[in-house]
Amino acid sequence: MKLTMAKFIMLGCLLFLSSGFALTCPDDQKQALIQFKSSILNNSTTSLSFPQGLESWNSSLDCCQWMLVTCNTRSALRQVVSLDLYNFVSSLPPEANPVDSSALSPLFRIKSLVMLDISSNYIGGLIPGDGIANLTRLAHLDMRDNSFNGSISPQLFGLRNLQYLDLSNNLLSGNLSKDVGFLQNLRVLNLDENLITSEIPQEIGNLTNMQKLSLRRNNFSGGIPQSILSLRKLEALDFSNNSLSSEIPVEIGSLSNLTSLSLSKNRLGGGIPPSIWKLSKLSTLQLDQNLLSGEIPLWLFDIEGLKILNLGGNNLTWNNNVTSTSLAPKCALSQLSLRSCRISGHIPHWLSAQDNLIFLDLSENELEGPFPDWLAELNIGNIILSDNKLSGLLPPRLFQSLNLSVLALSRNKFSGVLPENIGDANEIMILMLGDNNLSGPIPQSIWGIYRLLQLDLSRNNFSGKLIPSFNPLALLAYIDISSNRLSGDIPASFGARTRILRLGENEFSGQLPPNLSAMSKLEYLDLHNNFITGNIPKSLSQISTLQVLDLRNNSLEGQIPEALSDIPNLRILDLSINNLNGKIPPKFGNIKAMAERRDLEVSLADIFNFQIEFNDLQVIWKKSFQGLPNHNLEIYSLMDLSMNRISGEIPASLGALKGLKLLNISHNNFRGSIPSTFGGFESLESLDLSHNNLSGEIPQTFANLLQLNTLDLSNNKLTGPIPRGSQMDRLIGSNYYDNNSDLCGMQIDKPCPELLPPEYSPEPEEDRSKDSLFSWKAACIGFPVGLVITVLVMYFSGYFSLPPKHHHHSQRHGLQKTLTPFL
Ligand SMILES: *[C@@H]1O[C@H](CO)[C@@H](O)[C@H](O)[C@H]1NC(C)=O
Ligand SMILES: *[C@@H]1O[C@H](CO)[C@@H](O)[C@H](O)[C@H]1NC(C)=O
Ligand SMILES: *[C@@H]1O[C@H](CO)[C@@H](O)[C@H](O)[C@H]1NC(C)=O
Ligand SMILES: *[C@@H]1O[C@H](CO)[C@@H](O)[C@H](O)[C@H]1NC(C)=O
Ligand SMILES: *[C@@H]1O[C@H](CO)[C@@H](O)[C@H](O)[C@H]1NC(C)=O
Ligand SMILES: *[C@@H]1O[C@H](CO)[C@@H](O)[C@H](O)[C@H]1NC(C)=O
Ligand SMILES: *[C@@H]1O[C@H](CO)[C@@H](O)[C@H](O)[C@H]1NC(C)=O
Ligand SMILES: *[C@@H]1O[C@H](CO)[C@@H](O)[C@H](O)[C@H]1NC(C)=O
Ligand SMILES: *[C@@H]1O[C@H](CO)[C@@H](O)[C@H](O)[C@H]1NC(C)=O
Ligand SMILES: *[C@@H]1O[C@H](CO)[C@@H](O)[C@H](O)[C@H]1NC(C)=O
Ligand SMILES: *[C@@H]1O[C@H](CO)[C@@H](O)[C@H](O)[C@H]1NC(C)=O
Ligand SMILES: *[C@@H]1O[C@H](CO)[C@@H](O)[C@H](O)[C@H]1NC(C)=O
Repeated sequence: MKLTMAKFIMLGCLLFLSSGFALTCPDDQKQALIQFKSSILNNSTTSLSFPQGLESWNSSLDCCQWMLVTCNTRSALRQVVSLDLYNFVSSLPPEANPVDSSALSPLFRIKSLVMLDISSNYIGGLIPGDGIANLTRLAHLDMRDNSFNGSISPQLFGLRNLQYLDLSNNLLSGNLSKDVGFLQNLRVLNLDENLITSEIPQEIGNLTNMQKLSLRRNNFSGGIPQSILSLRKLEALDFSNNSLSSEIPVEIGSLSNLTSLSLSKNRLGGGIPPSIWKLSKLSTLQLDQNLLSGEIPLWLFDIEGLKILNLGGNNLTWNNNVTSTSLAPKCALSQLSLRSCRISGHIPHWLSAQDNLIFLDLSENELEGPFPDWLAELNIGNIILSDNKLSGLLPPRLFQSLNLSVLALSRNKFSGVLPENIGDANEIMILMLGDNNLSGPIPQSIWGIYRLLQLDLSRNNFSGKLIPSFNPLALLAYIDISSNRLSGDIPASFGARTRILRLGENEFSGQLPPNLSAMSKLEYLDLHNNFITGNIPKSLSQISTLQVLDLRNNSLEGQIPEALSDIPNLRILDLSINNLNGKIPPKFGNIKAMAERRDLEVSLADIFNFQIEFNDLQVIWKKSFQGLPNHNLEIYSLMDLSMNRISGEIPASLGALKGLKLLNISHNNFRGSIPSTFGGFESLESLDLSHNNLSGEIPQTFANLLQLNTLDLSNNKLTGPIPRGSQMDRLIGSNYYDNNSDLCGMQIDKPCPELLPPEYSPEPEEDRSKDSLFSWKAACIGFPVGLVITVLVMYFSGYFSLPPKHHHHSQRHGLQKTLTPFL
């Protein structure tokens, strides 16, 4: 009877709530709800927007008439059976803490609850186990998209009626919290092994009525508990995006009602268990991004109902013999990912019969041959074929598709011109064609695609003068057309929403247009290796969001505008190899993002609703790679003004740039002495002052440069003793100091006259740069300071049309501190 009821509610059917019974909800339940409401309101910060729907909770009304509350209309008691508190806390200011889970306590007096949805509410802290244990009738519990931490309270496993449990996107792990409050409330403390490690507790097998279970996006590790096999009624199981290891239980196929199995993004090894073959109702199988190995079993394609098959990013292999012959799948897939499954030969022809496909990812394989016409005709929404060896022209038919929203073909060998009709595909959001052999002009129609967010045409052979006519409402935020042969003037405007603009390594000429500053959201401007002339416009300083300005290797002249120092977020400034003159404005010591060692509020990674991953950040300097770990990128900061004609003294104020990791002002006409404030460069790893007219002594404060590992002071007029210090003592060898007036010190094996001969410590091998200065000079700084951005397209169907809620609000409103590891 209870069960029928639960099912009834779960189906979401509404009964006649408005019936004219005089009966109202029990007073104690009403009081509990009122108390819950005030505890939420009392404890929320003033800027918390009014919880949606709670305004209808007026104590003079029957609580069965309130929004979000459903009562049992079948019984005279009219008890509250369902609370739909999804997203009632709809926003939180960035600095606010999550709502503590203790705010939920009044709800645990409503023992008649069958359905409780508190998802997407910024609730943090531990799951209130004792309280939830009160709700023995619960069939449906949805707590996803919150910030619950600690372990799953053991009391949850006592809720035998649970059919639906969603704990996804929280911060749960197996660890028993050391939180004292939690221990005080605990009635039974079971110090089972499972609770002390981060594993999913075996007790999960107690929930034998479970039909849908999700622990997605938490922090569980260890194996998948065998007890899961007791959940015979299970229809959907989602353990994806944890750190689960070991193997998929061999007997998983005994869960015969399973329609959806998602174990993506874990560290599961072994093969795909053959028992999966028995899951005849299976429609979703997502095992991507694990460490699975072996051959992809072809019987998978015989599971008739299978619609979503995601196996990419494992060490699985595809039997290429089958590709060429007649694989005739019985399933009609809507999504298929076989990324990096070692598929070779042509794009498998059997796909042409898969006309329900909306998502296809065959990237990172060894596919060759052309882009087949039949594939263009399938009207697939997301086509990801990057990192193969595909060649030939892109079929114009592809762009007649009104479904196409993601096309990623980077790093192939496609050639020829881009079809003129590319702009017809006006649903495209992401177009990635970098690193091919495409040539000719960039079709004008491309700039009119309203939905386009991200465009990568870099590293091709495109030529011609680019005079885009932008749709003024365009959403385009990321534009990379670098490394082509585009010429003419820099286009005046790329649309107001541009965040990243990469035009480097082309043949652009003329002056920088002053209205670049109309791109008021620009974070990254890269124009290096072009033929740009004229002055650096002062107006650039109006782009307060700018973080990276790379004008390296052009023909810019005039003075460096002092106003650049007003850009608060500027942390990478590369003006090297130009004809700039004048002095370094002393105000450069005030550049905020370089002066502070801090995380920046605006991070490049926040740009889109999908994820950008920074890979391979390498500062290539003197041909020595100084790889930086990805997570440092946001606080990475450098200034390179080398190879210009800048003169005067180096402003002492520069020493305030404590966040700077690289400073290069070599090959200029600086004179005077090195400011002693340079000892303040707490973060500095590379310093190049060579090829100037600097005189006087090297400040003894250099001893404070504890991060310094690359130094060049050569070709100046420096005199006196080279400072000692833990890093300075490692920078041994004449090439750091060559060609000065009269330096001395142990580093160059030349005793200083007034000192005793210093004890000579042997040169540490690894600190001796083999590519010495000379070869670097010969190479003439041929290497740009490179930030290689790899954009990973997140690809679950619907992702692009409907971004996940949680992602959405955490980006808009913060919670970054707690959620960062999971974004
Ligand atoms: C919330 O505040 C109101 C008035 O400020 C008070 O009457 C009520 O008792 C408070 N509720 C709780 C749970 O603290
Ligand atoms: C509650 O409802 C009563 C009667 O409908 C109304 O007079 C009162 O203003 C309402 N109170 C609030 C706080 O909305
Ligand atoms: C709410 O605030 C009251 C008093 O300000 C405090 O006693 C109570 O613990 C808080 N509740 C929550 C859930 O933070
Ligand atoms: C859980 O989060 C709260 C803040 O919401 C924090 O105070 C507490 O230390 C966290 N507990 C664990 C076990 O991480
Ligand atoms: C469980 O319900 C009882 C009775 O309604 C109540 O007194 C108690 O506080 C509840 N327990 C918790 C932890 O909320
Ligand atoms: C799980 O079930 C077993 C056997 O029925 C029982 O002994 C154990 O107490 C249950 N565990 C929990 C947490 O309810
Ligand atoms: C769990 O606790 C152990 C011991 O305190 C600790 O070493 C481990 O890192 C913790 N794991 C998690 C996920 O918090
Ligand atoms: C997740 O677990 C890992 C170790 O398993 C731990 O280092 C990390 O801090 C945990 N993250 C959170 C948010 O608890
Ligand atoms: C599987 O589903 C069917 C139909 O929904 C149901 O009749 C059957 O009882 C379920 N099997 C188990 C083991 O729950
Ligand atoms: C979950 O997925 C996000 C996004 O892919 C990733 O950043 C995070 O590291 C993953 N978390 C775990 C625990 O795997
Ligand atoms: C992938 O699997 C093959 C065997 O199929 C094995 O030789 C290779 O070492 C595996 N690679 C990785 C990275 O696990
Ligand atoms: C593919 O076929 C060739 C010969 O037809 C055979 O030698 C090879 O073992 C087969 N490979 C696989 C993976 O079945």
